[in-house]
Amino acid sequence: MNNYKQLSALITGGASGIGLATAQLLHQRGARVAIVDVQTDQGAAALASLNDTDNRAIFLQANLAIPEEADRVVAKTMSAFGQLNAVVNSAGIQRYGNAEQTSLELWNEVMAVNLTASFLVSRAAIPHLRQHGGGSIVHVGSVQSHVSQRGAMAYVTSKHALLGLTRSMAVDYSAERIRVNCVCPGTVDTPMFRWTMSLDPHPNSVLEACQGMHPIGRIAQPAEVAEVIAFLLSDAASFVTGTAIDVDGGVLALVGGAPTTD
Ligand SMILES: NC(=O)c1ccc[n+]([C@@H]2O[C@H](COP(=O)([O-])OP(=O)(O)OC[C@H]3O[C@@H](n4cnc5c(N)ncnc54)[C@H](O)[C@@H]3O)[C@@H](O)[C@H]2O)c1
Repeated sequence: MNNYKQLSALITGGASGIGLATAQLLHQRGARVAIVDVQTDQGAAALASLNDTDNRAIFLQANLAIPEEADRVVAKTMSAFGQLNAVVNSAGIQRYGNAEQTSLELWNEVMAVNLTASFLVSRAAIPHLRQHGGGSIVHVGSVQSHVSQRGAMAYVTSKHALLGLTRSMAVDYSAERIRVNCVCPGTVDTPMFRWTMSLDPHPNSVLEACQGMHPIGRIAQPAEVAEVIAFLLSDAASFVTGTAIDVDGGVLALVGGAPTTD
């Protein structure tokens, strides 16, 4: 049974990219959706994009780098919907630097959003998932949960750690019918990726390199990742927990990241 109408979902980073595509897909299928994001204007626009006519969607502005915000957004979601059985931790930031180029401040910034917020939002949600009789949590990792790219040490470390968080939480909560999984996308065409492109003097060469790196020959659209997240939140994934699903156009299957055409 894929009864999305029974889902009451909190989506961090829901104002943009993968989080937004997930909010749109779940809402379109009948779920209640709480969009949580630090960006006020984009959050309002995301909410408007849902065309919500029956009070199944809210936007909560929050900076999840502030630990106390996790409890607040979960409590607000509960007051709005009366239940919570799905969590998507998609809020994330990309920062660059090898070990010597990474200040403690930058390290802490990346960990706070990419890792600690995922832990804290999940922790705040678990009692409500339990109260509902179970639920599903999806962390948004990356192909960089498995492998590295050059000069992105804090980001790569945070995404690897999400796999530990996924497995540990899955083991601890499976008996309570709370499933925890990680989705690991390859390159996805989102504002985060467009920002990465903009750092290069030749942005289109970054796009072309990323397209060529994926055996499928292109980068992903956010909706293609949202489909997999929606599956993991649904009862169709009732025996799936503690795992990572790569949504990567085959990039991890390719040794060396060589271009597909030569
Ligand atoms: N785009 C890619 O190629 C790609 C690839 C693999 C994994 N990912 C991961 O997917 C997730 C979503 O990324 P995206 O590409 O959709 O990026 P995005 O920038 O479009 O969306 C991320 C959202 O997180 C929000 N956010 C950032 N810091 C926050 C904070 N402190 N509090 C609350 N919200 C905050 C941003 O405002 C933004 O709306 C991230 O975890 C990212 O690491 C992205």
